[in-house]
Amino acid sequence: MNEPLLVAQGLKKTFASPTREVEVLKGVDLTVRPGESICILGVSGTGKSTLLHILGTLDVPTDGTVQFEGKDVFGLSPVDLAEFRNRRIGFVFQFHYLLPEFTALENVMMPALIARTPAAKAKKRAEALLERVGVAHRLTHKPGELSGGEQQRVAIARALMMSPALLLADEPTGNLDPETARTVHELILSLNEKENLTLIVVSHNPELANFMDSAYRLSSGVLVPEKQLQP
Ligand SMILES: Nc1ncnc2c1ncn2[C@@H]1O[C@H](COP(=O)(O)OP(=O)(O)OP(=O)(O)O)[C@@H](O)[C@H]1O
Ligand SMILES: [Mg+2]
Repeated sequence: MNEPLLVAQGLKKTFASPTREVEVLKGVDLTVRPGESICILGVSGTGKSTLLHILGTLDVPTDGTVQFEGKDVFGLSPVDLAEFRNRRIGFVFQFHYLLPEFTALENVMMPALIARTPAAKAKKRAEALLERVGVAHRLTHKPGELSGGEQQRVAIARALMMSPALLLADEPTGNLDPETARTVHELILSLNEKENLTLIVVSHNPELANFMDSAYRLSSGVLVPEKQLQP
């Protein structure tokens, strides 16, 4: 029992243009079990966002495979892959990418509307999620009318809209003050503990990393288990 949720094997990624080639990932292996929480560390430019995008099927590897519940995700048709991503994966981007012309509430509802959930039902859930992340008083604000921390929390609510099996978060508190960062950390960790949401988080924050099951460092294009984190 307890089959892996995700298995990545031999992931390579090279960005090539006619004038240059950047080999970012050189053979990344990772096994993630349901309910596990994993922190990914690494200096700027080592490929953490690139890796997270591939694990979230937002980008394709140059080589290697990603299996989700035993299924090769890059073997799916584009339509099936988009549906799989919408339903099973929540993504919090490094630079949160809310849609600027829509309100906080509409941004959170969007994944459900794409999945053709009736609008009234989507609205109810989106409101509940925004309440949970502490932004219920800003439902009709557009991203430009929200603070950085509020935008980040709206992005987390949006990622949770479809009750994903896996939440991928790319430095979710990178631009926040320590107090707001702590609130966001507590939220993410409580989702993991109470709802068994599987987490892969890129973060340099030792406070968060210490609360996670395991940590890896992305270095020279491969993932290396990180030694004991700070006590
Ligand atoms: N589309 C692209 N084309 C060419 N090179 C790219 C592309 N995307 C990323 N890179 C390069 O790949 C490397 C890894 O980028 P990535 O964004 O994954 O790093 P990162 O570890 O997330 O860094 P940071 O901590 O600064 O967010 C960088 O050197 C970057 O310049
Ligand atoms: Mg990054």
